[in-house]
Amino acid sequence: MTKAVHRIILLTSIFIFLCALLLSPMEAQSVSAATPSNTVYQERVFHSHSGIGKFYMGREIAKVMGHQEALWLERPNRAIQEQPNQVVNALALKPTDVVADIGAGTGYFSFRITPLVPKGKVLAVDLQPEMLDIIEFLKKENNITNVEPILGSLTDPDLPTSVDLALMVDAYHEFSYPREMMQAIVRALKPDGRVVLVEYRGENPFIAIKALHKMSQKQVRQEMQAVGLQWLETKNFLPQQHVMVFGKQQT
Ligand SMILES: C[S@@+](CC[C@H](N)C(=O)[O-])C[C@H]1O[C@@H](n2cnc3c(N)ncnc32)[C@H](O)[C@@H]1O
Repeated sequence: MTKAVHRIILLTSIFIFLCALLLSPMEAQSVSAATPSNTVYQERVFHSHSGIGKFYMGREIAKVMGHQEALWLERPNRAIQEQPNQVVNALALKPTDVVADIGAGTGYFSFRITPLVPKGKVLAVDLQPEMLDIIEFLKKENNITNVEPILGSLTDPDLPTSVDLALMVDAYHEFSYPREMMQAIVRALKPDGRVVLVEYRGENPFIAIKALHKMSQKQVRQEMQAVGLQWLETKNFLPQQHVMVFGKQQT
């Protein structure tokens, strides 16, 4: 074999080795530092532009929507697209219920729930203090007393009390520690409490939302099962999203 052939073989081997290294899932360093469940997540170098490069149960986690896009959450045509009043009515709340709206954003859903729980309250949790400032402003502006803005962390919504219902609208897919978040939510859930997720339908390729901002029912169900929740029903009355209802697994 000539020197040139040797060199080609050597360079090809190095190239293949580097490709394999870059493409293989790596355990998330940051996760292992933050939590003992360090095999739950994987990080990949090559990933979607709208994701964070971290994978959970086969799906890539989406980037958090920044507070700079708060106005988008309040866009007028959202009422037609996402029918928020029908969603909150479908929750069949009791006046005394305590509802946690996790990943509340501007409180688009929180403020639609408050009139339905006059003897209870809404815990409006978000990661971004700027979102909570908006909720605080709207609370004072509209003289609403039964909403409590809460600054959560990446791994824990820091719920101060047990809840009848934990609602996540267009939010769960961007939790960067979904396992830890859901475990904390399940701990705070009353024995007969419910968890409701509203997500754009991942099964439907014609829904014009970025893939990582949609979730299939199959995926949601397996992720909820992993934290001890059982699927109760899916309400399919929305044009583009599914409303999935879960309760604690009966032992
Ligand atoms: C797309 S917005 C939806 C807001 C609101 N649910 C709505 O439907 O108008 C998602 C929100 O989830 C929040 N979020 C993301 N990860 C979170 C976490 N781990 N804990 C609490 N909030 C989180 C983001 O800051 C953002 O405000």
